[in-house]
Amino acid sequence: MRKKIVAGNWKMHNNVEQTDDLLNELIANVPTETDTQIIVAPTFINLASAVDHLEFTSIDVAAQNMHQAESGAFTGEISADMLKSIGVNTVILGHSERRAIFNETDALIANKVDTALKHEMTVIFCFGEELKDRQNKQHFNVVENQLRDGLFHIEKASWSNIVLAYEPVWAIGTGETASPDQAQEMHEFIRETVRKVFGKDIAEEVSILYGGSVKPENAKEIFSKPDVDGGLIGGAALKAADFVAIINAF
Ligand code: 13P
Repeated sequence: MRKKIVAGNWKMHNNVEQTDDLLNELIANVPTETDTQIIVAPTFINLASAVDHLEFTSIDVAAQNMHQAESGAFTGEISADMLKSIGVNTVILGHSERRAIFNETDALIANKVDTALKHEMTVIFCFGEELKDRQNKQHFNVVENQLRDGLFHIEKASWSNIVLAYEPVWAIGTGETASPDQAQEMHEFIRETVRKVFGKDIAEEVSILYGGSVKPENAKEIFSKPDVDGGLIGGAALKAADFVAIINAF
C-alpha cells in the first residue's frame, strides 16, 4: 500500500514567532488517528525549532531546498549534512519556483537528488508543466522529460526514498486548480512512465502528490482519484484550520 501524504510548503512565509504559533495550532488540531503522513516545510531558519516542537508528534519536517555539494565556499547555502544534523530527513527538490526564479536546471536538480539520497534523505521531487506547454499540448512531454532528466538516473533501491509531486505551474498560487480529472490523467501518465522504466512494483508503491491551489473546498475530490496519493499545499498550509481540513479530506 502506498503512503498517503499531505505536505505543507510554507515557502518564504512566517518569522520565528509566527512559525511557533502555526506549529502550536497544528499540534493542537491535526488528527492523531490518521494513516496520512503529515509533513511541514518551514524556512531554513525555522527548521530546528520545528523539529523541536514536533518531536513527540506524528508531524514530520522537510526542508524546502538544499545545496548539492557536501560543503565548501557556497555563500548562503545549506548542505544535506547540516539538515540531517538538526533532524531534518526530508527535502523538497525541483520546486517550480526554484526552477523558474533561481534557474535550477534538470541537471542541477539531478545532482541535488543524488546528494540527498547519499545522505539517506527522502526527496519530494517536484515537477510540472507551464501554461504554454499545456496550451501547446506538450504537457506530457515536458513532465516526462523532467522525470527522465532529473530523477530517472537513480537506482531502483532508491525509490523507497522518493515522493513525486506533480505541480502544474499554471495552478500554483493562482487560485486555478487542475480539475480532478486533469490531475488523475497526469498522475496515471506519471505512474505509467515510472512503470516503463522501473517496473510495476516501484510504480505502484511511489506516492504521487498533487500541488497547485489545493484548498479545503477542492481537496476531497482531488484526493478521491485513484492515482492521487495526497497533496503538496502552499497558501492553504499557512492557515492551520485549512491545512487540517485538507488532511481530514482524506
Ligand atoms: P499553492 O497551494 O499556493 O498553489 O502552492 C502550491 C505549491 O507550490 C506547493 O509547493
